[in-house]
Amino acid sequence: MKKLVVVAIAILASLGVRADEGMWLPFLINQNYEAMQKMGFKLSSEELYSINKSSMKDAIVHFGGGCTAEIISKEGLVLTNHHCGYDAIAGLSTVEKNYLMNGFAAQSRDLELPCPNLSVRFFVRVEDVTDKVAKITKKLKGDAFDKKLEKWVKQMEAEQKALGYEVDVKPFFGGNKYYMMVFERFTDIRLVATPQENLGKFGGDTDNWMWPRHTCDFSMFRIYSNQDNKPAAYSKNNRPYQPKYSLPVSLKGVQEGDYAMVYGYPGRTQRYLSSYGVDLAINESNPAVVKIRTKRLGIMREEMDKDEATNLKYASNYASIANYWKYFIGQTEQLKAQHVMETKQKQEADYLKWANGDKVYSHVMDNYKAAYDAYRPFVKHGTYYREAFMTPALTKIAAGFYAIMDMYKKKEAPEKITEAIAKLKTSQKAALKNMDLMTDKKLFSAMNLLLYQDVPKDQQPSIFSDDVFKRFGSADWQKTFNDYTEYIYSNTALLDADKMATLLSNLNETNITNDVAVNYALNIMSNYKDNYEKKGLDFAAQKADIDKAFIAGLMKKNEGKLMYPDANSTQRITYGQVKAYQPKDAVAFNYYTTAEGLLEKYKAGDAEFDLQPNILDLLRNKDYGDYADKKLGTLVTCFITNNDITGGNSGSPVINGNGELIGAAFDGNWEAMSGDISFDQKYKRTIVADVRYIMWVLDKVLGGHAIMDEINFKK
Ligand code: ARG
Repeated sequence: MKKLVVVAIAILASLGVRADEGMWLPFLINQNYEAMQKMGFKLSSEELYSINKSSMKDAIVHFGGGCTAEIISKEGLVLTNHHCGYDAIAGLSTVEKNYLMNGFAAQSRDLELPCPNLSVRFFVRVEDVTDKVAKITKKLKGDAFDKKLEKWVKQMEAEQKALGYEVDVKPFFGGNKYYMMVFERFTDIRLVATPQENLGKFGGDTDNWMWPRHTCDFSMFRIYSNQDNKPAAYSKNNRPYQPKYSLPVSLKGVQEGDYAMVYGYPGRTQRYLSSYGVDLAINESNPAVVKIRTKRLGIMREEMDKDEATNLKYASNYASIANYWKYFIGQTEQLKAQHVMETKQKQEADYLKWANGDKVYSHVMDNYKAAYDAYRPFVKHGTYYREAFMTPALTKIAAGFYAIMDMYKKKEAPEKITEAIAKLKTSQKAALKNMDLMTDKKLFSAMNLLLYQDVPKDQQPSIFSDDVFKRFGSADWQKTFNDYTEYIYSNTALLDADKMATLLSNLNETNITNDVAVNYALNIMSNYKDNYEKKGLDFAAQKADIDKAFIAGLMKKNEGKLMYPDANSTQRITYGQVKAYQPKDAVAFNYYTTAEGLLEKYKAGDAEFDLQPNILDLLRNKDYGDYADKKLGTLVTCFITNNDITGGNSGSPVINGNGELIGAAFDGNWEAMSGDISFDQKYKRTIVADVRYIMWVLDKVLGGHAIMDEINFKK
C-alpha cells in the first residue's frame, strides 16, 4: 500500500472527521467540543477552559520554560517528566548526595529541595489583539514592524508587571492573528521526588524517540507561595500553593480505543513550511547540526565516563544536545522516507492553481524560492557559528567582550560600560561552574577544526590564516588546532577569577583584544556579525512576510473549515485515542509495554539499560502492589496514543474521558520524526508513561508514601 502522507494543513472538514491531528487553542475549544464528545470525552467544555470559573487549564503549568507540568494535589504538587526536571536534579546532586543516580523522595515537606533556578508559570487569560496590532503597526514591514510591536509589548509588559503578571504577545497563523497571553510566575519550586536515572532515563539515547519504550520519565515538584497564595521568592515561611484546579489520578488503566487527550505547551511546529524549507532542512541545516553534535557528544562522553564529577557537570547539557542530535537524524530520515518535499510541492502547485493569478497569492512560491536561494550559501556559517564556535565555555566568556567593544565604538556613556563590564564577572562564574578544563580544550580544538574545514573559504574569519596557521601550521590540521588551543588556554586571563578581575579593571578600547581568547573570539564574531548575521536576519524577515501571505491564502482557500495554528509555546489541547500502529510491513507494535519488557531490556553494567538491585528484586518478584493491570496481571509501563504533540509537551498530562490523569506524555516515535513539519496520521504517536508505573516507582521503589496521601486516586 502506498504510504498516506497527510496534507500538512489541518482541515477538519466537519464533525465526525478523525481528530487526532491538531494542537487546538483551549479558549476556542468549543469548536472541537462535539467531536471530542463523540470520541468519548465526558466533561463539559467549561470544565476544560473557562474565563470565569476554575477549569482544567488552571492545572496545566508551563514548567521551567520548555516543558509542561500538571497539578495533581490540592497542595501544589506537580508532575512532569524526569527529563524536564533533569537540569534541576543534576544541579542539586553532588558526588556524595547523588539524587540523579539514586533517586529521591522527600519523606516530609521540610525535606523537599529548593531549586534555585527553576520557575513555573500559570496561564491567566488571553486577549485577541489582532486588530490592535494592525492598528499600531499600520502597513509596516520587517524591522520597522518589529520595533513598533516591541514598543507596544513593552508597554503591556509594564502594565501587567505592576499587577504581578507577565505578558506574551504572539503571532499565530504566520502573523494573521495575534493573541496576548497573561501569566503568573512562581519561583519557589522544590524537588519532591525523582526516580533514579536508571528508571527516569531508562533506555537512554538508544531508546530515545522510539517505541517500544520502558522509561519511567517522571519527576515531582511542589510550588510554594506566600501566605496569600501569591508568588514569592524562596523563603522558609512560604507554604504549598493552593491551586484552583488539580487533576484526579486514575489507577484504572487504559484500553485500545479509549479517549485520550493531552493538555500542554507544545513548543514549535512548522506545519506550514514550504517545500523549499524542507529542502534546506534535509540538505543543509540538519546534516550540519548532526555532524557538529556527533563530534561534541563524542568528546563529552569520553570525559564524562572518566569521572563522576565531570559527569554531573555535563549530564544535563549532554542530554539536551543528544536529544536534538537524534531528533535531526530522525527528522531527515523520515522527511525523505515519507516524501514530504514532493507532497508539499504538489500542495503548492494546487495552491498556485487556486491563486489563479491573484496579485499577492500567485507570487508566494516564487518569493519563497528567491528568499531561500539568496540565503542558502550562508546557512552553514550560521549553523557552525551557533553550534560549534559558541559552545566551549571559554568562548562563551570571551564572547561577552563583544558587546563591550561595541559600546566603546559607539562611545556609550562610561557608567554604562562599567556596568556591562561588571556583568562579565557573573557570566564568567556561570560558565566556569560547569566547565571541565580538559573537556573544554578538546571541544575548543575540535570545533575550530570543524569551522575551518566546513565554513566556505571565502567566508572564513582572518584569524585562521593570519594567526593560527602562521604560528602553528602543520600538515596535520588537528595538531595545528591542538597547539593553538594550548596556546590560548595557557595565556588567557579568562579562566581565572583573579586574573579576570585584573583584566577587567584595566580594560579600555585599545587593550580589549590583548587577551588571546578575547582576540580570537572577537575576530570570528566580527567577521560573522559584520558580514553574515544580517543574511540570516533578512531571510527570517522575508520569510515571515511570505509566510503571512501564504497562510492568509490558505485560510481563504479553506474558508469555513477548522484550522489550527503552529505550536508556539502556548497552551494547546490535542485529543484522540489510545492506539497501536504498524511501523513497517508485517510488523505490528502493541499499544502498551510491561515490566517484563523492562527486565528483557535490562543489561547489567550498561549505563543506559542498568537497573539497581532493589528494582530488580521488585520486578523479579512481580511485586506490583495495587498498580498491576487487572486484566493483564502485570505492570503496564508505557502506552501510546495518536495525540498530536511536540517538544514542550514533555511532561503534559494525558487525560481520559472522565478528566482523570492516565499518564505523562514524554516522547514521540521514530516513524513520525518528520511530524513537526508534516503530520502523519498513520504513524504519529505520543509515548506516555502510564501513571500506574509512576505510582509504583514512587511507592515501591522510592518509598514516597507521604506524597501519595495527598493525591486524589480514582480506582
Ligand atoms: N525525546 C524526548 C523529548 O524531546 C526527551 C527524552 C529524554 N531522554 C533522553 N534519553 N535524552 O521530549
